[in-house]
Amino acid sequence: MHIHEGSYYIRNQKVTDLAEAFGTPLYVYDGEKIIEQVKRLHEAFKGIDLKIKYACKALTSLSILKLMHSQGVELDVVSPQELQIGLMAGFGGSQINFTPSGVDFSEIEYAVSQGAFVNLDNLDVLEKFGRLYGGTQPCMIRIKPNVAAGGNAKIMTAHEGSKFGIDIRQKDEILAIVQRYNLKVVGLHQHTGSDIKDASAFIEAASRIFEFAYDFPDLQCIDLGGGFKVAYKEGDYSTDMEAFGAELSGFFREFCAKYGRELQLWFEPGKYLVSECGYLLVTANVVKQAPGRRFVGVNSGLNHLIRPMMYDAYHHILNASNPDDAEKEVYDVVGYICETDNFALGRELNKVSAGDILVLLNAGAYGFSMSSNYNSRLRPAEVLILNGEARLIRERETLSDILRNQILIEL
Ligand code: LLP
Repeated sequence: MHIHEGSYYIRNQKVTDLAEAFGTPLYVYDGEKIIEQVKRLHEAFKGIDLKIKYACKALTSLSILKLMHSQGVELDVVSPQELQIGLMAGFGGSQINFTPSGVDFSEIEYAVSQGAFVNLDNLDVLEKFGRLYGGTQPCMIRIKPNVAAGGNAKIMTAHEGSKFGIDIRQKDEILAIVQRYNLKVVGLHQHTGSDIKDASAFIEAASRIFEFAYDFPDLQCIDLGGGFKVAYKEGDYSTDMEAFGAELSGFFREFCAKYGRELQLWFEPGKYLVSECGYLLVTANVVKQAPGRRFVGVNSGLNHLIRPMMYDAYHHILNASNPDDAEKEVYDVVGYICETDNFALGRELNKVSAGDILVLLNAGAYGFSMSSNYNSRLRPAEVLILNGEARLIRERETLSDILRNQILIEL
């Protein structure tokens, strides 16, 4: 977002015009930014056979998936529904990997029937897979490397206490099953966590997987998951992709040389691809002055963007109706849900009046995809800006969307 002639713009689109044309609350995505992030990631791993498997749980809208597909990005899904949405968006089954945790085995069978790769993360499931498909279907195994990394405890996934993956210390059990059923393990997978500040923890987890991999002769890829850090506020650390790419590429090349074969390197970024492309436009309904506090209540809440409430996540907020920064005031920016749904406390903003359009930044990842109908509120519309055009990719919900599956019984 930038200021041009006294107004905020996302690419060539004036923010207040978008709010007027499509209404608020509104999710707006900058498609060019997604394309840039894809390019940056490929650049950083130049010379490596890299595959990007977008973790589409971050933002699952069909047109976003179609855009990813057009950029040569493939998919990581965690449910049969995400898989189906991926197929609808144009991905072939073999471009999708299914990384479930604790699901009914029928979901794995479904993924296999669609030609997807499956990341198995439990010894019993591996055994069952072996019994059913050993010698025929390739599979991948999700390893838990016992490395703690991630922005906060709720989004760490590879530490010892995590439910995800097969503990790296259970290698002998894994190998016994692989041999018993002649399983073709084509990939090893790990996902360390989300919002990883410490690139060295990522590298440490990767090196544990590399070390683990020599006993698996059929590998075609190592999948290191997602977790790259984007900056949520000014001065925030973000993964230095160029430096990280150079360092990890070096380790990966060494590993491949020792393994004796060139392998593919897979990543499953969510936030890195779609966090910064997303904006949540809301309207200030009320400004409430109380002793020692000033609230601004907006037409959104934890039902549209739960990250501040769930993870204490910081989302930068701008007043698009008052880009002139002469007059600033401190506000608690709060939602309209009957819960304490604070978007920000004590936040300095350009003076807000009722009716102003506020913009929450970094709202692309885990924004809409974690939204709900709590308080029987409707989910926002979504707009994608691409090639200079702002197009609606999801209509605003209506009451009938909430009522669709309800059955009013006779009493
Ligand atoms: N791969 C796997 C297996 C994952 O579980 C995840 C995220 C990713 C990739 C993508 O991670 P990313 O690149 O987006 O960090 N709702 C939380 C984040 C939960 C992440 C869950 N798994 C948030 O809003 O911070």
